[in-house]
Amino acid sequence: MKLIKKIGLVVVVVFIAMQFFSPTKNTAAGNHTSAFITQTNPTPELKNLFETSCYDCHSNNTKYPWYNNIAPISYLLADHVKEGKEHLNFSEWQNYSLDKKDQMLAEIEEEVVDGKMPLSQYTLFHKDTELTPNEVVNLVEWVRQTRIIYQLGKQPN
Ligand code: HEC
Repeated sequence: MKLIKKIGLVVVVVFIAMQFFSPTKNTAAGNHTSAFITQTNPTPELKNLFETSCYDCHSNNTKYPWYNNIAPISYLLADHVKEGKEHLNFSEWQNYSLDKKDQMLAEIEEEVVDGKMPLSQYTLFHKDTELTPNEVVNLVEWVRQTRIIYQLGKQPN
């Protein structure tokens, strides 16, 4: 057998073997971001935007695409989710301090205004998740209003 054929065979066998392993899925039942929504009171449009464009990587519940059933794609996606949640998890909002919430809102504004979030690897496959300029304006407005509320909350009575 030619070397190239042997290598090809090994690749196929490894690929098939990989399919028997998959990372644990990130799923949560119920209203897992209710604390975030109640506290920050986004408009229905913004609430919807977080659901479609952010929660897949920044909450305890990911809506997986069909290709998540294919290794090693499943591992790449699991990695994005793990890393995204480490930085910001909307399902854990109630456990963040006032300072952390304020800082996270500032980061959200920065990332979205700079066009860094949602990740480009994600919007490439989920076309409808890219934010329109108008959505960015609305999000910035919400961030500023919400930060004022949190900052007032920090002051002693
Ligand atoms: C495909 C997964 C994915 C999606 C979708 C996504 N993010 Fe992220 N996000 C990440 C990852 C991974 C990181 C950490 C690495 C980095 O900054 O690139 C991150 C980092 C961040 C940070 C930085 C937090 C810090 O501590 O510096 C913010 C803020 C953020 N994302 C907000 C958002 C918002 C808002 C949305 C929706 C509009 C969004 N992200 C959509 C994966 C994602």
